[in-house]
Amino acid sequence: MGYVGLATSVCLANAGYRVIGVDIDSGKIQRISSGNSPIHETGVEDLLVKSLMSGCFSASTNIGAAVNDSDITFVCVGTPSNSDGSINLEYIQAAVTEIARAIKEKTDYHLVVIKSTVVPGTTSLRLLPLIENISEKSFGLDFGFCFNPEFLREGSAVSDTLNPDAIVIGSDDERSSAILLELYRGFYGGRLPFILVTSPANAEFVKYSVNSFRAMQLSFLNSLATLCENVPGTDIAEVTKGLSAIAKIDQRYLRSGLGFGGSCFPKDLRALIAAFLEKGMEPALMKSILLVNENLPNHVLEIVRNRLGDLEGKVISILGLTFKAGTDDVRESVGVKIAGQLISAGASVRVYDPKGMENARRILGDKVEYSRSSSSCLESSECCIIATEWDEFKSISPSEFRRLMRIPLVIDGRRVLSYNIFEAGEVSLIQLGRYNSGRQASLEKRSEHLRIGLQLKRA
Ligand code: UDX
Repeated sequence: MGYVGLATSVCLANAGYRVIGVDIDSGKIQRISSGNSPIHETGVEDLLVKSLMSGCFSASTNIGAAVNDSDITFVCVGTPSNSDGSINLEYIQAAVTEIARAIKEKTDYHLVVIKSTVVPGTTSLRLLPLIENISEKSFGLDFGFCFNPEFLREGSAVSDTLNPDAIVIGSDDERSSAILLELYRGFYGGRLPFILVTSPANAEFVKYSVNSFRAMQLSFLNSLATLCENVPGTDIAEVTKGLSAIAKIDQRYLRSGLGFGGSCFPKDLRALIAAFLEKGMEPALMKSILLVNENLPNHVLEIVRNRLGDLEGKVISILGLTFKAGTDDVRESVGVKIAGQLISAGASVRVYDPKGMENARRILGDKVEYSRSSSSCLESSECCIIATEWDEFKSISPSEFRRLMRIPLVIDGRRVLSYNIFEAGEVSLIQLGRYNSGRQASLEKRSEHLRIGLQLKRA
């Protein structure tokens, strides 16, 4: 019952399918059963309440009973990274083992559908044999098995479930894929999207290719953006307008800035890198995508240092701790990473996020000061870094920054502020990806200082 399992469940239940949502975390099941979503995910709680009331949805910790009382099981458990970047199959294997035990006891046919992200080959070589061995039943005859990747973005999991770009089904068994297709045909009716039925390994590959391609697009833009910052007259936001119109690229992945985080892109890239290395191949491109992304927090710190010098004791505010707006998830969040780096540099860090404070506290502990609002976060600070594109940050005016901050230096890492209204010079605004003459002037001033310092030393 993570965001994929819960969003999929309530969407199906709301369309009249009977769904049992299973999780080993009894606290989560209790919460869900009383109509409270354990995650901040647009639309999920509304659909959850409706489907509980209609009787189409129930939640349980009992995998065996759920398998017995249903026709299809979707496996949506996490596959986190191991220390070498490969994926940890511990949780998915545990879930599949329980499902196989239930299939052993069940007399009717049951279809198992893996939605969790796994590297090519995993479902056929690791998970299917596990079910066959434990259930002592025959694949294709007693039970079916498919890989069906999800492409749900956190924050828009419900609308992505209702309007997917495509449905990808990987199976070596026609009966299995036919049953899953029948479910989707019924669910989507006349709005059935593009469907690809292919081998399990191809379907697994599609999932990794989509996420790494999107990550590549972002690192490409973010890389160009750093060059724009040093080329007079350029702005990556304008460049991407032309680029997307001509190269026809996905509009949803065009915002350059502080880079990508979250539970998928970084993890999937690391898994892909590990898969290349396992085959004795050099994953040069995949490594570069990650490297560009991982350097972005350093890039921001360099900008802050260029302006403020030594960061020891400097008060710095960070607005935004979630890895993107619309979620309370702080996994691989750039805001949290920057906070960590600023703390190491001796700065006094103050943070605020509309939804991610509780989760960020688990990582940052008492090393930062937590503010109740963006205004209190900005008070007396010497620099503000906007790390997440929350709407409420868009409306902070230049005069508010000026009034609250000791030094009104704002680094807009997500391009949320309207540059034109900041031009008056009240606030020193640096937007990633835009040539900034003010910043350039300060860089020039700094190198001038260094030059004079060097001459004095020589003398
Ligand atoms: C992603 C995939 O899109 C989804 O298919 C998969 O199942 C899970 O991983 P998600 O992690 O929720 O979804 O986030 P997504 O909206 O794809 O954004 C990923 C990261 O890229 C975020 O950190 C986001 O801030 C960043 N991003 C996205 C940008 O920096 N610019 C953009 O234009 C879009």
